[in-house]
Amino acid sequence: MKRQWHEELDINELASRFGSPIWVIGKQQIKENVRQFLSFTNSAFRILYPVKCNPAPAVLECIAEEGCGADCSSLSEINLALISGFKWENIAYNSPSQDFKTVKIVLDNGGIWVCDDVDLLKEIDNSQDSGKGQIWIRINPKQNVSYSKTSKNQELMAHGSSSSKFGIPEEDLPELLSKITLKISGLHLHVGTQMDNLDSFVSALNSLHENANLATELGHPIKHLDIGGGLGIPFNDQDNFPSIFDWTSRLNQLKQKNYEYYTEPGHALVGDAVGLITTVKSIKHSRGKTWGICDVGTDQLAKITLLHWPHKVVSSSGSPLPFNGNDTLAGPLCFAGDNLLESTCLKDIKKDDRLLITNVGAYTFALSNSFNGRIAPAWLLWEEGAIKITEAESAFSRLMMQNHYWKKTIQREFEQPISRELFEALKSDYLHTEIENDRYTILEFNQIGENKFNATVDFISSVDFVSMPTAIRVIGNLCLVAALHKHGYTSKTRPVMGKKVQLEYGASLKTGLNKINIFLSDEICKEDQNWTVLASFEVDDKSCNGCFVLNI
Ligand SMILES: Cc1ncc(COP(=O)(O)O)c(C=O)c1O
Repeated sequence: MKRQWHEELDINELASRFGSPIWVIGKQQIKENVRQFLSFTNSAFRILYPVKCNPAPAVLECIAEEGCGADCSSLSEINLALISGFKWENIAYNSPSQDFKTVKIVLDNGGIWVCDDVDLLKEIDNSQDSGKGQIWIRINPKQNVSYSKTSKNQELMAHGSSSSKFGIPEEDLPELLSKITLKISGLHLHVGTQMDNLDSFVSALNSLHENANLATELGHPIKHLDIGGGLGIPFNDQDNFPSIFDWTSRLNQLKQKNYEYYTEPGHALVGDAVGLITTVKSIKHSRGKTWGICDVGTDQLAKITLLHWPHKVVSSSGSPLPFNGNDTLAGPLCFAGDNLLESTCLKDIKKDDRLLITNVGAYTFALSNSFNGRIAPAWLLWEEGAIKITEAESAFSRLMMQNHYWKKTIQREFEQPISRELFEALKSDYLHTEIENDRYTILEFNQIGENKFNATVDFISSVDFVSMPTAIRVIGNLCLVAALHKHGYTSKTRPVMGKKVQLEYGASLKTGLNKINIFLSDEICKEDQNWTVLASFEVDDKSCNGCFVLNI
């Protein structure tokens, strides 16, 4: 059998250098998968990668670099795709729940709208404005999709089935197309996920051809045919799926010369190009059974644990864990179904061993959650050596994103001014330094509750607003003084480090008088004499708000 990219990885070395759990992207495998699909589409931009499958920026960038397009189901996916390097003209918007505003943005910018909403199509048609973009229609075929091998939960994946919510029934097309005056230039049909039966793709392509003839007769010359995604991949050595080569060879025989063909592979493009390194954190013995508890589970791999789709897991020596036995490899979560391999044999596995869970590129990170306070792992790009590309999330990332104002709702408890002398003694001299023409005076600074402070600041600048760097320095200094004062300090006898800042500049902060409210969290993570506090702030007129993590 051909050697797979992940067999080159030294998972012990990678985990010791970069931490565990950690995702690893095999860039070469993505390139190879793209290359194989090209034999069907002829051009990379006609491979529309479904962003929902794995929206990690590192994965998106690799695919954009290959010149592929993107299939997006929301405005935020579109923005992610654009940030990652996909071009507007190669972005398709397709979702069972589409909104007018997003459709307009897509069409105005020259993207593709894959319409799955008859009323919306009529609305856009009435406006007689499809911008620079294209309108395609997603078809729901009469004929049901069928898998070769039936398996549990298949009904959850058969998106192209005639009873699903997706697409416009093909029998409704003649009437619809005869009424629409804007030109429809493409048709789309997605059979479903983890499809193992090439005949289903053949009937989908036949249906696209038939409907394209019909649409052309009704005045909509169809040029683009999109067969969606759906080609399945093996998750372990027991699974059997046609290869990309089998798929393209079969479908290429059916292609007709007047069309351009598109596909949207998710699983088949990135599924086998990502692995997840994990560490066995503990071994437990219970009633004759051994449990190996890993540092990742349903938080990142819900598809494996909830759908009971066990993946091949290999040890650092490259041997796969068996698919039968009395033992269980589990995740760390407080959930009885958090099992990666229900029946295996762990006799050779010890605490702290590293393992690699293979073929986890599709619908894993995309469905990740923070149950039990688990946080998203970092990502490594593997291409002739490892390069670390993204940091793991920290617990603070989520807290800061929520922009919570601690105990904001508690009534004003007391009012105690922080005198000018006390402020002078507690402030950071460095932060207090004025920058060129930006000057400010703190007119009032009060503690108005156990965790609440407010300040009145007069800003002067050479323009009529206060720049973000100045705002950070001034408000950072106020937060620092508030935190030291709350803890009984009367002078700045210890360093205070701002570790993270999140700032939203809703409307620009104006010069002149501004009231700034500060809310401190209780102390967290106190270690030795160091403690951490989160300081949220908002300017009264909402022109600026945010949060600092302060280490004191
Ligand atoms: C419209 C569309 N295209 C493509 C895909 C990708 O499917 P797969 O990952 O099975 O290739 C999906 C996934 O459900 C989809 O909904």
